[in-house]
Amino acid sequence: MSLIIKSNKEINLSDRTLARIAELKTRFPEGRQKSALLTVLHEVQDENENWLTIEAMDKVAELLSIKPVEVYEVASFYSMYNQKPVGKYMFEFCRTSCCALRGAEDMIEYTCNKLGVEEGQVTADGMFSVKGVECLGACGYAPMMQLGDFYQEFLNEQKIDALIEDCKAGKIELLSKV
Ligand code: FES
Repeated sequence: MSLIIKSNKEINLSDRTLARIAELKTRFPEGRQKSALLTVLHEVQDENENWLTIEAMDKVAELLSIKPVEVYEVASFYSMYNQKPVGKYMFEFCRTSCCALRGAEDMIEYTCNKLGVEEGQVTADGMFSVKGVECLGACGYAPMMQLGDFYQEFLNEQKIDALIEDCKAGKIELLSKV
């Protein structure tokens, strides 16, 4: 289910991001700038605390000269885009077939209980959130999740405990974006 939140917060993109978006648009023929949408959404999300407000999506529509609904429908389809605030560390658990058969729901429930949040909520300190997603293409390593840009595999309660402690200690690297 998608959720689009209006934040009443103006979206200000850095010169670096605006330049990057301008360059992305040049890669496609005139009138086909929508083809850059997925990458542009990543760029804008990265500048907006890892989620997309309605204002952010409207800005993307403006930059690509497309209708806002064309942005909403894409952003709400893919789980890699967030339509509400997320924690600094977002545990994205795959809950599709292989992971489901190997205990994904138990891992999600255990993590939520451990962090004191419901799925989709952010901890009071803003550090953590838990999200269920579809297959991440690492079925042979089930149950697994994505944390930042990296996969955490063959999860069990002990691994979840260790990951939470590592996050709190600042030992987990989140981004490898260039
Ligand atoms: S089913 Fe979980 S990664 Fe594919």
